[in-house]
Amino acid sequence: MSRRTPIEPQRVDAPLTQSATFLVLSVTDKPEAIKTVRSTLASVDDLSKNVAIRDLDAAFACTVGIGSNIWDSLLSGVPRPAELHPFPTISGKVHTAVSTPGDLLFHIRAQRRDLCFEFERQLMDRLGDCVKVEDETVGFRYFDVRDLLGFVDGTANPVGASVDESVLVTEVDDAGSAGGSYVVVQKYVHDLKRWRGLSTEQQEAIIGRTKLDNIELNDVDEDKQKAHKQLATVQGDDGSELSILRDNMPFGTPGKGEFGTYFIGYSRKLWVIEQMLDRMFVGSPPGLHDRILDYSTPLTGTTFFVPSATVLASLDDD
Ligand code: HEM
Repeated sequence: MSRRTPIEPQRVDAPLTQSATFLVLSVTDKPEAIKTVRSTLASVDDLSKNVAIRDLDAAFACTVGIGSNIWDSLLSGVPRPAELHPFPTISGKVHTAVSTPGDLLFHIRAQRRDLCFEFERQLMDRLGDCVKVEDETVGFRYFDVRDLLGFVDGTANPVGASVDESVLVTEVDDAGSAGGSYVVVQKYVHDLKRWRGLSTEQQEAIIGRTKLDNIELNDVDEDKQKAHKQLATVQGDDGSELSILRDNMPFGTPGKGEFGTYFIGYSRKLWVIEQMLDRMFVGSPPGLHDRILDYSTPLTGTTFFVPSATVLASLDDD
């Protein structure tokens, strides 16, 4: 009987926390860049332990994603995930989901901001000029898990056993990438002044839930203007709903008039998130786009694959 090393996923399913840092980096063309990045990625688990131990109640977790363009040189020897490709620009009649660069994503989470800061500091010390920062966003939990539009965000996330089923690639899906996950990020800024100009009922019709007590509104017919909740619902061939795991975070600086939502979605299948984006930006039916976009503009859009922890740890073997 052949024995196989069990594949251990990264902490994609880590709990929602009070604080998070979303760090998107590109690898530079320094001669030692690939080697340095590989060994840093292999030591992310040790780095995480260094920081997590300082407050074990703070639920520290870091997940690492690798972009399509760097995959072959950075992870040579590790099979390329079947669906991995750069984030596609999606142009609707009115709004566009932009595609922006990024080779590495670090999704750093903890109940305490200082732990996220400390991990990032130690990480950047190691990476030095082998990377360029494309975007660094610090998110915070806002009251009862609300986004800055004022709505509870994350309710329809899978829970329990359905988390793994929604986010982890299986041996059957793509054996070489089993235990990994696709992840898509988009940094949105909101026009809060205009959003606040809407009545609560208008806002609720856009989101698809009531604002105060988060009750789902009924879906509308196929040919009608749908709420965000209905546009972001994607079904499989058998008609069952396909979930993704979101850990969106508000960010902003009121003094500069910046108010945003950092969208992050993990999925076992990349096409599910891309179909959600298509329904939001192009609309379903085409032309009837997600009205959330009339008040929210994506500044970034990048896709990564989160390899299993087993794969990450093996990167220093050579
Ligand atoms: C649902 C906010 C972007 C996917 C929701 C809900 C809110 C929300 C308030 C309802 C509560 C919940 O179930 O979480 C936002 C904001 C966004 C944003 C403020 C950015 C401006 C996106 C994007 C995607 C997405 C880009 C996917 C590509 C979903 C999904 C649901 C959802 C799958 C659950 C739908 C269901 O009820 O089954 N979002 N969202 N969202 N959103 Fe978003």
